[in-house]
Amino acid sequence: MARVLVVDDERSMREYLEILLRKMGHVATTVADCGSALRLAENQEFDLVLSDLRIGKESGIEVLRAFKTAQPDTEVVMITAFATMENAIEAMKLGAYDYVTKPFKNEELWLIVQKALEKHQLQRENESLRIQLSSRGRVAGMVGDSAAMKEVYSLIEKVAQSRTTVLVVGESGVGKELVARAVHSKGPRATGPFVPINCGAIPEGLVESELFGHVRGAFTGATVDRPGLFKAAGGGTIFLDEVGELPLPTQVKLLRAIQDRRVKPVGGNRDIEVDARIIAATNRDLAEEVKEGRFREDLYYRLNVIQVFVPPLRRRREDILPLAEHFIAVHSSEKGCAHLSMSKEASSYLQSYDWPGNVRELENAIERAVTLTEGAIIQPDMLPPQIRGVQPVPEGEVTLPPGGIDLQAYLDALERRFLQMALVRAGGVKKEAAKLLGLTFRSMRYRLAKQGLSSPRSNDGDDGDE
Ligand SMILES: Nc1ncnc2c1ncn2[C@@H]1O[C@H](COP(=O)(O)OP(=O)(O)OP(=O)(O)O)[C@@H](O)[C@H]1O
Ligand SMILES: [Mg+2]
Repeated sequence: MARVLVVDDERSMREYLEILLRKMGHVATTVADCGSALRLAENQEFDLVLSDLRIGKESGIEVLRAFKTAQPDTEVVMITAFATMENAIEAMKLGAYDYVTKPFKNEELWLIVQKALEKHQLQRENESLRIQLSSRGRVAGMVGDSAAMKEVYSLIEKVAQSRTTVLVVGESGVGKELVARAVHSKGPRATGPFVPINCGAIPEGLVESELFGHVRGAFTGATVDRPGLFKAAGGGTIFLDEVGELPLPTQVKLLRAIQDRRVKPVGGNRDIEVDARIIAATNRDLAEEVKEGRFREDLYYRLNVIQVFVPPLRRRREDILPLAEHFIAVHSSEKGCAHLSMSKEASSYLQSYDWPGNVRELENAIERAVTLTEGAIIQPDMLPPQIRGVQPVPEGEVTLPPGGIDLQAYLDALERRFLQMALVRAGGVKKEAAKLLGLTFRSMRYRLAKQGLSSPRSNDGDDGDE
């Protein structure tokens, strides 16, 4: 059963088509003018449109255009009198599936409708197949198809269905919280709350009441009963971020919460039941913390039932550029600017850098570059200096004289030196010199002019702008 729109100003034709379509088992909507059809194009989905080419004084081409814009997958078949044959051909060019010439036989129209709908169906199936394929092994919101991340995705799928405690480990900024959210949202608790808590960010004296709640009068300032985050995460997931930072006494209580699914609010004498799934994360080596006596061994084993290790970005370099692309898209649209692209050189800097701050550092670098870039292409000089291999100035290499310095004059002098050295090494070719300094050609030219280093007649190998 397909949804078909009939557009014709002739009433008899509308009625005839409606009957025919109903006989074929489809649902027909009929309208008599172009305006109504255009409104429907915006508001209602159809699988097929049958439109007269001449609707009173208006043209069926408008209907075709509207549908190809608003519902590109909808097939449009034009009905035409011999006199409008030329328009029929134009319609085909604009994406109509086919046309029938009046007068036509029932079977003729029947066949065209059948074929158009088959094509439509096939397209749909392809589309859903494509979406399935591209998302296979992917987790919503997570970018990167490296083998290492695929393993992470499949582990997420596996653990999401259960309520097993999961420990997410990995360096800072690798995406541990994102993994925790994915485990939550892929599982049966997705409609419940996801309650994140950064165990390292809460003052030691307050952690317990934050997690397990407190009763009125438990301590100064506790003027009302508070349920605590474990309770708040009921039916959902509590995410204990930086779990390695938990004070030892709180660790004991957490252990109990996991074992007995009960917690005792601070100052209370009655246990309350909790039903939150627990996901914990840490960038510390918890086994090592256990050895050092900073983390309880029993709690470690309780949390570490299933471990998801998110590898550092430098161990999955093939994810760098797709992630960069993703962040360019995110931040360009956030800033309402056009979608930028990345120059080859900038890309190669990104790929060879080690990313100690992992995905978060990459995201920050891209966000900064998107903000700074004025043209359409992100050039290397828009990337943070450390990514371009600029070493921090070593201790002792420069000194601040007792009387201080004129920083700007000093930097100008330094810039002048570098510009000269680069020009000499590049044999005077500005474009090459710019590369040595990680500058765009335009920026190089500007700096040379500012420093009074550009030759009056630019005849030195730079063939125009970048
Ligand atoms: N695979 C990914 N795809 C898209 N965005 C990602 C991915 N991994 C991380 N991010 C983004 O990078 C940033 C850091 O991720 P997240 O906060 O999950 O890291 P983390 O491991 O919890 O870091 P920390 O240890 O510092 O808390 C977030 O903005 C997150 O959305
Ligand atoms: Mg985090």
